[in-house]
Amino acid sequence: MKRERLDKVLANMGKGTRKEVKALVKARLVTVDGKLATDPGMHVIPEQQEIIVDGEPLDFKRFIYIMMNKPQGVISATEDNMHETVVDLLPEEWFHYKVFPVGRLDIDTEGLLLLTNDGHLSHSLLSPKKKVDKEYFARIEGRVTQEHIDQFAKGVELEDFTTLPARLEILSQGETSEIRVTIMEGKFHQVKRMFAAFGLKVVYLQRLRMGSLHLDESLELGDYRELTEQELDALRNRAGDDE
Ligand code: URA
Repeated sequence: MKRERLDKVLANMGKGTRKEVKALVKARLVTVDGKLATDPGMHVIPEQQEIIVDGEPLDFKRFIYIMMNKPQGVISATEDNMHETVVDLLPEEWFHYKVFPVGRLDIDTEGLLLLTNDGHLSHSLLSPKKKVDKEYFARIEGRVTQEHIDQFAKGVELEDFTTLPARLEILSQGETSEIRVTIMEGKFHQVKRMFAAFGLKVVYLQRLRMGSLHLDESLELGDYRELTEQELDALRNRAGDDE
């Protein structure tokens, strides 16, 4: 485990700017393993040592993993000049983690979005080599038929690439159809483009699952929570470390 400067650890954990946390130490408000810290530059192992700031134990975490039920109207990005972003929906006390969304959902797509500051896990989950599958529910303007199921199973030819085989399931069929679809890539507008290839329009799209991670249906739109240990372990196993 890494030894780091105390002031850096405190600043990274959102306790203030470097200058402010130095002042906290100078004001004799910080202890490390029960001893008063006098040097802001002292080295600590934050995972192992008990750091108390102004009476409050520091809940040190290097990485954070957040599941969000993304609502429509917000952008899957960390910054945007026009629209609210998914990061804007998070509480201020998490801002210091500097999370980003793992992959993107369109502005009008709802559902499962993972946010983290763990670049390694994010990279693995998005790597085309890993073929992490994604499952969506969609409402389609038009009649989805067995023929579409067969075509999706073969892979759909788009302008710039042919998709890997996708699993399409019809939940209801009519002037509008409701379907579930599982795809192996995550290309720009992929689900919409796959249906558009057959003259069909996606009018509602919701992501239900990414690899082993299922949308927690008890989360209201716009709500979020940290992943459980089990969810995180399963994701890590799926993403693997064997790049
Ligand atoms: N496919 C799409 O077309 N849009 C999304 O947001 C996700 C997958």
